[in-house]
Amino acid sequence: MCGIIGYIGTENAVPIILDGLKRLEYRGYDSSGIAIMNNDGFTVVKQKGRLSALEELVSRKPIEGFIGIGHTRWATHGEPSDINSHPHLGNQNKIAIVHNGIIENYKQIKERLEQKGISFVSQTDSEVIAQLAESYHTGDIVETIIRTANALEGSYALGIICLDEPDKLVAIKKDNPLIVGVSEHGNFIASDVPAVLAHTNKVYYMNDKEIAVLTKTGVEFYDMDGEPIHKEPEIVTWSLDRAEKGGYEHFMLKEIMEQPRVLKDTIQSAIGDGDNRRIIESLDISRFNRIVITACGSAYNAGMVAKYVFEQLCRMTVEVDLASEFRYKDPIVDKDTLVIIISQSGETADTIAAMREAKRRGATTLSIVNVIGSTIARETDYTLYTIAGPEIAVATTKAFSAQLVLLYILAVSFAGKLGKISKETEEKLLEDIASLPDKATGMLERIDPVQKYAATCVGYKSIFFIGRNIDYAIALEGSLKLKEISYIHSEAYAGGELKHGTISLIEDNTLVVAISCCERLYEKIYSNVEQVISRGAKVLFIGNCIKAVPGERLEIIELPDINELFAPSLSVIYLQLFSYYVAANKGLDIDKPRNLAKSVTVE
Ligand code: F6R
Repeated sequence: MCGIIGYIGTENAVPIILDGLKRLEYRGYDSSGIAIMNNDGFTVVKQKGRLSALEELVSRKPIEGFIGIGHTRWATHGEPSDINSHPHLGNQNKIAIVHNGIIENYKQIKERLEQKGISFVSQTDSEVIAQLAESYHTGDIVETIIRTANALEGSYALGIICLDEPDKLVAIKKDNPLIVGVSEHGNFIASDVPAVLAHTNKVYYMNDKEIAVLTKTGVEFYDMDGEPIHKEPEIVTWSLDRAEKGGYEHFMLKEIMEQPRVLKDTIQSAIGDGDNRRIIESLDISRFNRIVITACGSAYNAGMVAKYVFEQLCRMTVEVDLASEFRYKDPIVDKDTLVIIISQSGETADTIAAMREAKRRGATTLSIVNVIGSTIARETDYTLYTIAGPEIAVATTKAFSAQLVLLYILAVSFAGKLGKISKETEEKLLEDIASLPDKATGMLERIDPVQKYAATCVGYKSIFFIGRNIDYAIALEGSLKLKEISYIHSEAYAGGELKHGTISLIEDNTLVVAISCCERLYEKIYSNVEQVISRGAKVLFIGNCIKAVPGERLEIIELPDINELFAPSLSVIYLQLFSYYVAANKGLDIDKPRNLAKSVTVE
């Protein structure tokens, strides 16, 4: 995820773009840059690090111009560095672009262009857009953008300026957001409304494959045949604070809603033509006799889910250890162990210590990390990146979901390499995984039942989560999510464990959230549900194989069908929403729960 902005008008574009980038920094902050076009051509200033570094640079060497584009980056292809920062230029310095998205066929395009003698300076997928646009440029920028977009596979929101047409700023999008803002003094493109709200609240929301051509005085829209299209502007009535959250009340809800996109991008990176795929393919699992997973909090819960998937598919022992325990326990790992380290931030102190301990003992380390260039990503032997973009809410949602799909794909790949599953089964499993984003989208269109039920749950002092097998693993995450943001005490149990102690806590009107996506264990979990109901509990039963009928004490929320191994990716969405709406109904500070920090860099 990155943020883009562009301005063309009667005022100096530089402060306008820098201010807009500040409002987009939540979309990425590992580098930023700006390109201004004036009579001398392009002036490009770009720099690794937070936006303040770019501001500092610009203030030392002021630039001026009435048309420009800016970018704040969250690296996906190519490490955060000055050279990989946007804007990118073509070889002849005629076209400058900013891009938010992922170009899936960039390698093929790059090879083609390199054969024609075009040289590349960065490791990004985005640079191919500038080079390709320049190679196609005929003098008509709309034609150029159409040809370029037709050659691109993947997702993009693009801002383009061209020296041959210095009175135009052009934009197009596919699968990534882009708005056009219009004001008295000039016109804007941006990834999101907050970037332009200081200047105007009159915006056009762009649809996929629509082209916007902005001049100082107006904007025109075209389709992919170059035909003009009519669009109506909308007046934004949100406050700036609300606009920064994409219109949602909290970043957590926004991030929950982003999950279909995140799943799609992360899956694509691992089974399409992405860096994750190359790493997964290069791993020789037959070298190892054991897998150990270590992480903290939700990342640990992702590891718990993965244990079931790896063991089921690879028939290999997998141990999951809390990083804070692993580091002090004289762990049994050696050169024959693959240690998988999971961390959104890549900076969690306990997880870093566990990783270093594993390395010290000679293990091969593989990390699953969201933040490119973070300590864990740098120090492990192999790194897979979740393509979740920056996560702002303290409670993780989208990064957790991205971790799960990478772990599934890793498990399927290992099982194939170990000969534990046939090629057909491998393909079928990957198809099941690839179906998750659409299923998640469908679920997010039907959140009413969860929202309404959660509104009735604010008074509970304690809520239990139960499940069996892999449903138990995801119950752990449901319970953690609830307690961290709603401050309601909560525990997760394997359904079969209830009778060994916990059932004594069940009394009149205790709430139990039961998860059921393992059809073969349905009767078992249902008997747990009956046991707690008969002791006075109320049950929220979430699953895709439930045969019971709802009753006074039993609420049922259906999930889409999916292979049980991958069902946690669906059940977790309603568990996240359940926690979110309980906390929202309690009026709590959901994005910053008390006593918690996003990145726990101390022991
Ligand atoms: C829970 C949560 C935490 C983190 C944990 C590890 O919502 O966010 O439990 O999962 O602190 O953090 P990372 O993944 O950054 O290592």
